[in-house]
Amino acid sequence: MTDNTTGTQGAATSDTAPDGDRPLVELRAAGKSYGNIRALHGVDLAVHPGRVTCVLGDNGAGKSTLIKIISGLHQHTEGEFLVDGEPVRFSTPREALDRGIATVYQDLAVVPLMPVWRNFFLGSEMTKGPWPLRRLDIDRMKQTADHELREMGIVLDDLEQPIGTLSGGQRQCVAIARAVYFGARVLILDEPTAALGVKQSGVVLKYIAMARDRGLGVIFITHNPHHAYMVGDHFSVLRLGTLELSAGRSEIGLEELTNHMAGGAELAALKHELAQVRGVDTEGLPEEGDLQAPAAATPEGKS
Ligand SMILES: Nc1ncnc2c1ncn2[C@@H]1O[C@H](COP(=O)(O)OP(=O)(O)OP(=O)(O)O)[C@@H](O)[C@H]1O
Ligand SMILES: [Mg+2]
Repeated sequence: MTDNTTGTQGAATSDTAPDGDRPLVELRAAGKSYGNIRALHGVDLAVHPGRVTCVLGDNGAGKSTLIKIISGLHQHTEGEFLVDGEPVRFSTPREALDRGIATVYQDLAVVPLMPVWRNFFLGSEMTKGPWPLRRLDIDRMKQTADHELREMGIVLDDLEQPIGTLSGGQRQCVAIARAVYFGARVLILDEPTAALGVKQSGVVLKYIAMARDRGLGVIFITHNPHHAYMVGDHFSVLRLGTLELSAGRSEIGLEELTNHMAGGAELAALKHELAQVRGVDTEGLPEEGDLQAPAAATPEGKS
């Protein structure tokens, strides 16, 4: 962790959850180097059941690297990674899935021309009949997909429609319902609202809250502090591969969070430079070290 860390260093395991609530997933001073590129360093993170942990950060901050470690795609090269309190090192995403860690990637792994119900069961199809006459149990898959989607409040007119015809938001919702159905305890969402409009983002945020209410621990990766603040219980901001901020909801407001994302300190330094250039109005930009300055926030909806 760097010395510019604000907030609650090392408190990630205790400030978002009641006493005795062991994290489902935990990183302790974890890091990852790709050859001699250090993508992530000294990161602490804890994911608790029934909580949404938001991971924010600019491009290249290390968000994807962090979730790749947790989802079994890459291995950490420093620190510790624990699941249910036990140190682990997954070599495949299958191993993470077996421990109940499901990841919904932004470019959802769906087959666009296949019906919704078929995509719901992709790779885990229901079958019937004895071997070697075993065949797909289409009726049961359709019924189950319909039931599960309704349970999550997702009502589609026709489960036979190709999933490619659904909106981006609806597809994210199907993916979330699928992860819940297949027993995920930890749900990782990589920028699920990045490509969505306001209304669809709202729908996806609703399902994130629903998964949380069902007791899942959710890791919500986003660039958008407004989206994060709507559902988040804990906020971890990455900058250049290190944790710049780790704070529970009660410790930070939306404005301050937005300010961190906008790079309050960098804006302050910029103000100093700009002040020396005539004609640039630096009024309203924050002073150095003043992370609460209101005008440093990214304008609403533009983050
Ligand atoms: N496979 C790789 N090999 C080498 N360097 C990598 C690799 N993957 C990521 N990096 C580097 O690690 C750093 C963090 O990348 P990462 O993809 O985790 O960022 P990110 O926060 O997900 O960014 P974005 O918002 O653009 O998706 C970057 O500097 C990137 O260039
Ligand atoms: Mg990324």
